[in-house]
Amino acid sequence: MTTTPPLDVYLQPEQLRAALRKDAGAGLTSNPKWLPPKYFYDAHGSELFEQITELPEYFPTRTERELLRRFSGEIADVASPEILVELGSGSSEKTRLLLDAGTGHGTLHTYVPQDVSVSALEGAAEQIGAEFPNLTVRGVVSDFTESLHHLPRGGRRMIAFLGGTLGNLVPAERAEFLSRIADVLETGEHLLLGVGLVTDPAVLVPAYDDAAGVTAKFNLNVLRVLNAQLGADFPLENFRHVALWDADNEWIEMRLEAACAISVRIEELDLDIEFSAGEQLRTEISAKFTLEGIRKELTDAGFGIERTWRDPDERFALVCAARN
Ligand code: AVJ
Repeated sequence: MTTTPPLDVYLQPEQLRAALRKDAGAGLTSNPKWLPPKYFYDAHGSELFEQITELPEYFPTRTERELLRRFSGEIADVASPEILVELGSGSSEKTRLLLDAGTGHGTLHTYVPQDVSVSALEGAAEQIGAEFPNLTVRGVVSDFTESLHHLPRGGRRMIAFLGGTLGNLVPAERAEFLSRIADVLETGEHLLLGVGLVTDPAVLVPAYDDAAGVTAKFNLNVLRVLNAQLGADFPLENFRHVALWDADNEWIEMRLEAACAISVRIEELDLDIEFSAGEQLRTEISAKFTLEGIRKELTDAGFGIERTWRDPDERFALVCAARN
């Protein structure tokens, strides 16, 4: 018999819906219109994201996995973590490599995966609990920007924020988020970041606009979430997936473009919104970094980089930084 490890829920479905109401109300009445990316990840969206990670064009996941495979031992040597907290852990698929190295190193005793997706977290916490019987696993359901109030104590901690998810925040949000991480860590505790690097747009853009159309489905899924959660009537067939490289900001931007003039009713917000033909709604930014850029952001937040590891094509980096 397998027992499901406990999940601490700091984000009830009702709170997530309230946040969605607030964010959708703000973003859809702005010009240009926007939505935050966290609402992609209902059960269906999380499943589509897992499919994205296996696409030939989507190199970040497999590149990061390869880096973790090769260098988790070095990461464990640098950080000697006793508690690993993973923000935005999703399926925790790549984390096993860090858990292997951390337990092998002899220090790691606790793993705390955090995600907004209960469905992703339940499965992950259960499987990892079964695979690592000597590890205490405690899943935390929360928004990663809120989860830092609930950090466990009782050992040297490493916070891992992998997958390039830091890039989903705009620079001002990143500065605040990194400072808040610094605030909750003690001197000498570590932050491990996985970040996408600035590279050839001819490689980057297809990663967000794959031939099989999975990313398009993932992008459109946010409209399904609004339809289901807020009683909206977005006609998905009239929106087109757009992915572009913004060279000035050094980020990928995903948008949904209205194929024709569309009016949408959002019942729960008592709101009607109009899209003109060709109007674009921004659904995600995915910023890419240079090592100098990330070094500066970490320094400004109170961290010092101890080691970085890059793949041979220099498309992705793992960055291990210590709290000053
Ligand atoms: C896992 C959130 C970092 O930005 O690359 C994948 C999400 N969006 N394809 C990313 C995503 C479109 C992904 N993150």
